[in-house]
Amino acid sequence: MKGIILAGGSGTRLYPCTISVSKQLLPIYDKPLIYYPLSMLMLAKIRDVLIITTPQDNDNFKKLLGDGSRIGMRFEYAVQDTPKGLADAFIIGEKFIGNDSVCLVLGDNVFYGANMSQILAHAMDSIKDGGASIFGCMMKNPQEFGVVEFDKNRKVISIEEKPQKPKSNYAVPGLYFYDNRVVEIAKQVQPSARGELEISSINDAYLRLGQLYVSIMGRGVTWFDTGSPKGMHKASGFVKTLQEMQGFYLSCIEEIAWRKHFINDEQLRKCGKELEKTDYGKYLLSLLNEEEQV
Ligand code: G1P
Repeated sequence: MKGIILAGGSGTRLYPCTISVSKQLLPIYDKPLIYYPLSMLMLAKIRDVLIITTPQDNDNFKKLLGDGSRIGMRFEYAVQDTPKGLADAFIIGEKFIGNDSVCLVLGDNVFYGANMSQILAHAMDSIKDGGASIFGCMMKNPQEFGVVEFDKNRKVISIEEKPQKPKSNYAVPGLYFYDNRVVEIAKQVQPSARGELEISSINDAYLRLGQLYVSIMGRGVTWFDTGSPKGMHKASGFVKTLQEMQGFYLSCIEEIAWRKHFINDEQLRKCGKELEKTDYGKYLLSLLNEEEQV
């Protein structure tokens, strides 16, 4: 399976911070926002990743993440000239996807959950014979997201993008798994009233095919949409608190690469040395002294 991180968009809700810098490069506490969605792909053991950015930010992302070899990953880059909507990612990424299935994660979505690897593995497994696998998260403000409606047997009956009157409180976070048909389906999507190629239209197409699987991200999972200053602040506070209390870092891409055996001790040591002056670098080096891996 391939991975795509969509890190385009103009980030207008974060102006003036994002006039000159992409939102996904701004920090959530101690690391760039894009590390968080990237770490979801890594936890799903997806190592081929296409990073889609705006034309003006592409070089900055390359400077930050390179070709991925430092953490045992393979990164490619593409640009989205204008923010046409999320479904455009599959059209831009057609060649990269090839004949594979694909996971799309939005560059500004932050997730945290103790058993995230299993949650992702389960979502991937549900489409091994084809289909789409997405999530539902209970939210107080579902009208700001894609919203999924279930019948009493938990069967999905509708999916709507930012409905004025949401039919449920289950919002769809920016993490989606699709079979290869997604590319052709994306090409058929018509722009919505807000002029975008909506991801909800793709999900609706799979629903009509009877192949949309929705897993509930329950109480054990925290999801932040960081599109506003408040959202970024909330997510930063959460990361800081958890890291300070538990001693473990959240979405530390070098740590995940090491724990998943994408890189060995020597490579981790090199990553740590590069950042030695920071707590982040010291944390990486401290992992090598762990007596027992957890
Ligand atoms: C997008 C999607 C929406 C999804 C949300 C998750 O919204 O269109 O369905 O729930 O991401 O972050 P946008 O960020 O474009 O408003």
